[in-house]
Amino acid sequence: MDSMRTQVGIIGAGPAGLMLAHLLHLHGIDSVVLERQTREHIERRIRAGVLEQGTVDLLDELGLAGRLHRESLVHTGLELLFDGEGHRIPLTDLTGRGVTIYAQHELIKDLVAARLDTGRALLFSAAATGIDGPAGDAPVIRFRQEDRDVELHCDIVAGCDGFHGVSRAAVPAGAITAYDHVYPYSWLGVLAQAPPSSEELIYAHHDDGFALHSMRSPEITRLYLQVAPDERIEEWPDERIWEGLRARLHRRDGFRLNTGPILDKGVTALRSYVTEPMRHGRLFLAGDSAHIVPATGAKGLNLAVADVYVLAAAINDWYSAGSDAGLDAYSSTCLRRVWRVQHFSWWMTSMLHRLPEPDPFGARLQLSQLRYLTSSAAAATSFAENYVGLPLPKGGW
Ligand code: APR
Ligand code: PHB
Repeated sequence: MDSMRTQVGIIGAGPAGLMLAHLLHLHGIDSVVLERQTREHIERRIRAGVLEQGTVDLLDELGLAGRLHRESLVHTGLELLFDGEGHRIPLTDLTGRGVTIYAQHELIKDLVAARLDTGRALLFSAAATGIDGPAGDAPVIRFRQEDRDVELHCDIVAGCDGFHGVSRAAVPAGAITAYDHVYPYSWLGVLAQAPPSSEELIYAHHDDGFALHSMRSPEITRLYLQVAPDERIEEWPDERIWEGLRARLHRRDGFRLNTGPILDKGVTALRSYVTEPMRHGRLFLAGDSAHIVPATGAKGLNLAVADVYVLAAAINDWYSAGSDAGLDAYSSTCLRRVWRVQHFSWWMTSMLHRLPEPDPFGARLQLSQLRYLTSSAAAATSFAENYVGLPLPKGGW
């Protein structure tokens, strides 16, 4: 059994783990990042693509946004489509802020490159198998890399290993409470080699079910369709996907959907999940390991960044000033934002998706909410400030 030592052991090289590693590095704090997958895998994995203004501002401040500014698309509004008619929400006019379209795996490439530049450890194909003594002063992460079993001794463990990682499972039952909500539908997502059919995102409410028109670049469209929770991808040949999208994105004044070769397709379940607290002794959960939001508000990545923004400052206070205050407040500080975002994501999801059982009353309420949102400046502003992202908590990074 090999043995290593670091200050902060970080499990997972997603947005949470890589951002945390970088923030700690800027404070002069050493860490080892363990990633189960290969570099190629995480740099290609298709995930979300909407960055809140606060996320972009932080990347800017850290000098990590060079390529992002060259290649991303800045959006100042979005469209809600219902009853065959589009209604624009002018996000920037309402809030002074906007959102940035930049694929998560592109951000991962930038963060991996930044980490490798620091010369600090980022181990690929290194799967954590467990955490010993998370509640004590000397936690140990056990991991396996190729045929090697290694013990990583740390002061602090950051569980940034996503929803299916080992970190949350290392907390004894009874020390943690989970709040879970599963939706009776999923999203079928496709990436297509086709220019976006509209300059902005379109969230469509339709009798057949929800659809979303998004994009990655002037050449690549990202599209989603509401499907059944247990939908089999084999049931959706490309032509059925395009037909479904055409129907749901149809509008009375005409809409031409650009089509092209489908580069990637997959089904994602929608789920809301929160763990409380996000800490067990010296183990801190961040990002998807602590909470999941349905994709509708595009908040998962941004919430992960907000967590580690708080965690990095708390860890730095602990090392540099010997103060426990930040670490003790970590969970409650993060959970305030987490629950606000949970509500927003649940609300947006509930407003836009077709219910599996016929529910004419519910459908009328959805349409009433959509009409209110697109005709009242007060309602639109409330939506917009949540969508572009509330300011990051004070005192972070
Ligand atoms: N050992 C090492 N790495 C692991 C382990 C393990 N046992 N289990 C999981 N991982 C890795 C995964 O391979 C993944 O690269 O942890 C990483 C977790 O990254 P994400 O799933 O991207 O989670 P996070 O960093 O919290 O990012 C927030 O919210 O809505 C989503 O798409 C959004 O993925 C984004 C996430
Ligand atoms: C995406 O482009 O992947 C995307 C955009 C908006 C969402 C969800 C996903 O609400």
